[in-house]
Amino acid sequence: MDVKGIFKFSSDIRQVKGMHKKAKYIEVGIIACLIILAAVAIFSFRARYGGNTLVVYFSRVGNTDFSEDVDAVSSASLRRERSGRLVGNAEVLANDIHDFTGADIHEIQVRDVYPEDYEQTVDRASEERNQNTRPELLNYVDNMQEYDNIILIYPVWWSTVPMPVYTFLEEYDFAGKTIIPIATHKGSFLGSSVSDLKQILPESHVKNGIAVSGGSVDFLKYWIIGALTGIVLLFYAIGMAKKCKENPVKARAWNICAVVSMLVAVICVIKLLL
Ligand SMILES: Cc1cc2nc3c(=O)[nH]c(=O)nc-3n(C[C@H](O)[C@H](O)[C@H](O)COP(=O)(O)O)c2cc1C
Repeated sequence: MDVKGIFKFSSDIRQVKGMHKKAKYIEVGIIACLIILAAVAIFSFRARYGGNTLVVYFSRVGNTDFSEDVDAVSSASLRRERSGRLVGNAEVLANDIHDFTGADIHEIQVRDVYPEDYEQTVDRASEERNQNTRPELLNYVDNMQEYDNIILIYPVWWSTVPMPVYTFLEEYDFAGKTIIPIATHKGSFLGSSVSDLKQILPESHVKNGIAVSGGSVDFLKYWIIGALTGIVLLFYAIGMAKKCKENPVKARAWNICAVVSMLVAVICVIKLLL
C-alpha cells in the first residue's frame, strides 16, 4: 500500500468510527428516553391510581360453585391457573392491576350463585337483564368514601355490565369519583356497557374504557402492564442493543424498533391515563 492508500485507509477508519459514535449516541439517547418514559409512566400511574384507588371486579368463576372436576379446557370461558385453581378473565386482569398499582381490591359476589352450566348462566343473565333485576350481594366495601378512583373490571354480559355490578354501583355514592371501566368480552368489545355506566353514574367521571378479549387476557395483561411501565420495552430495547452492538445495520433496525415501541408505549400510557 502506498502513502496515499494509507491516508485513505485511515480516513475510512475515522469515518466508520464516527458512524459508530453517532449510532452509540442515538442508542444512549433512546435508552435515556425509555428510562424517562418508564419513570413517568410508573410515577404518574401510581400517583393517580395508587393510594386512593379500588380495583373492583366481577367474574363468573367467583360467582359459581364449580365442581372439582369441571372441564376448563372445553368449557366456554373457563381457565385454570398453573396451580390448578379456576380463575376468571376479569379476575386475572384485576389481580395484575392490583399487584401493579398496589391499589386495594374487591370482588363483587352474589348471594345466589350462578349455575355451573354456561347456557343456564346465559339464560339467567338474560332474564336478570330483561327484568332489570338487582341480584343480592354477599359482600360490601366498608370504606368506599376513601376511594377517588374505581377501576371496574367486568365481563360483558348481554352486551352490557352484569346485573350484580349494577347492584354494587347503586349501593354507594360515586359522585365525583373517577370510574375506569375495563371489560373482558368474546366479541362485543365494550358493547353498551360504558354508555350504560355513564347513564347510571351521571355524577361520576366515567372514562371511555378498555375492552380486552377474554382469549387475549394472558397476552394483553403483559401488554397493558408493559405499556404502562415501559419496562418491558426497556428490557427489550436493551437486549436488542446488546445483540446489535457490533452491527451498525442491525443497530439501525433496533433504533427503528425502539422508537416505534416507545411511540406505542406513549400512546398506551396516554390512553390509560386519560
Ligand atoms: C351470561 C353471559 C353473557 C355473555 N354475553 C356476552 C356478550 O354479550 N358479548 C360478548 O362479547 N361476550 C359475552 N360473554 C362472554 C364473556 O364476556 C367473556 O367470556 C368474558 O371474558 C368472561 O369473563 P370472566 O371469565 O371474568 O367471567 C358472556 C358470558 C356470559 C357468561
